[in-house]
Amino acid sequence: MQQTKQFPKGFLWGGAIAANQVEGAWNIDGKGLSVADIDTYKPKASNKDYNAHVATNLEGIKKAMEDPTDTWYPKRRGIDFYHRYKEDLAMFAEMGFKTLRISIAWSRVFPTGEELEANSEGIKFYHNLFKEMKRLGIEPIVTLSHYEMPLALSVKYNGWVDRQVIDYFVRFANVCFDEFGQYVKYWLTFNEIDSIHRHPFKTAGVIEEKSVAGEEIQDVYQALHHQFVASALVTKDAHEKIPEVMVGCMLTKLMTYPLTCAPQDVELTMKKNLENNFYADVQVKGEYPRLIECHLKNKGIHIAMEPDDRHILKENTVDFLTFSYYMSMAESGDSEAERTPGNTVLGVKNPYLPETDWGWQIDPQGLKISLIDLYDRYQVPMMIVENGMGAMDTISSDGKIHDDYRIDYFRAHFKQMKEAIDEGVDLIGYTSWAPIDLVSAGTSQMSKRYGFIYVDADDEGNGSYDRMKKDSFDWYQKIIQTNGAALFDE
Ligand code: BG6
Repeated sequence: MQQTKQFPKGFLWGGAIAANQVEGAWNIDGKGLSVADIDTYKPKASNKDYNAHVATNLEGIKKAMEDPTDTWYPKRRGIDFYHRYKEDLAMFAEMGFKTLRISIAWSRVFPTGEELEANSEGIKFYHNLFKEMKRLGIEPIVTLSHYEMPLALSVKYNGWVDRQVIDYFVRFANVCFDEFGQYVKYWLTFNEIDSIHRHPFKTAGVIEEKSVAGEEIQDVYQALHHQFVASALVTKDAHEKIPEVMVGCMLTKLMTYPLTCAPQDVELTMKKNLENNFYADVQVKGEYPRLIECHLKNKGIHIAMEPDDRHILKENTVDFLTFSYYMSMAESGDSEAERTPGNTVLGVKNPYLPETDWGWQIDPQGLKISLIDLYDRYQVPMMIVENGMGAMDTISSDGKIHDDYRIDYFRAHFKQMKEAIDEGVDLIGYTSWAPIDLVSAGTSQMSKRYGFIYVDADDEGNGSYDRMKKDSFDWYQKIIQTNGAALFDE
């Protein structure tokens, strides 16, 4: 087959953001508190002022709920996208975006999650946002749940541990489909559904202290099961309500290599990768994998299911698979092996890879391997809905940001994507994380910058919040304009 330099016709180039990391406006127009609104800034070095406000237990949560300020909670500020979205969308359109992935803040639509009627101000905001995207020719991809469930559901029900939360989510999703289905064809149910094991509170509102001692892990699996069922139920509703809709699952692709070819390293690695695939197995294939069921049984974990649950999962699988990819890591049987942080994980350091300012190992080829591996396993269209590099950007003496390192990162990843496509992978879109600087999910830092667009704000919320193009802005614009061909002319 003759290969062209271009990506497939109609390839969806764009960027991805999440409501809780950009919108701000945490306490206006009827919005309720979300779990993200009590997430504190985590500076690189320990800082007693901030550490005193980390809400990991019921007492801390109560204190955060009573705090009327945004001092300790950067996600309350975001980047003021709520008021500046027109300016931001105009810049995305200038870069040539075909698509933008956003999320809808559940607590802006249902402030506590339990209301019978949606908050009209919240609905109005998203209507305006989608209308503006439509005017600019930007196709929305919408995540229904991206680390921002109503805090009230977390406190009252221990989040997704309680089956009742499925009903509230289904109500929320259906309001979104009814209101916004006219603009939105691509929907994702849960962002990084697998992350529930790494941060149960952020992902599913699960408060460890509320579990019976010794049953914490059991509760996390139960909450996960409820999310799987909810995802399947709303997939069904979307299929019935929205013509030509595409509903996707979203996985954190945590590519893991054996540190050596010692069989012990290989087996440990294989098991890590099997565990990482489990979530997409349920959502794409519609059933719990036998190996995972056996693993749970061996661990004494029992998931309570309603008689119809397995049928619901089987009948309502997703139409496409999406994932985030930032880094890879290694695995080793040697407990002394050096470790390095990745996306909410600590992996074994791979001696062949460089790393970012935050220690995440940069591995473009790992993206190609992931694409081939996932496509071979699932055989459905795929999108990369997060990929990017958090870095400490500095403004040079000429007043500009020369972020060559970011361009290098993207260039290398895009080339690997093209190779995977040429080898037969059905990749239909790519949204970078994040096209504009925003508040970090993991650390709530502003100084961990991902954007093609700089936002003048620091970790403590000082700054004008003005936007400024970085060098990577023009570069990405050229890539989109040429549908990837410019990658090979540089
Ligand atoms: C992904 C999340 O896991 O990683 C995003 O879906 C997040 O919300 C991104 O921002 C990067 O992580 P961080 O901690 O650098 O913001």
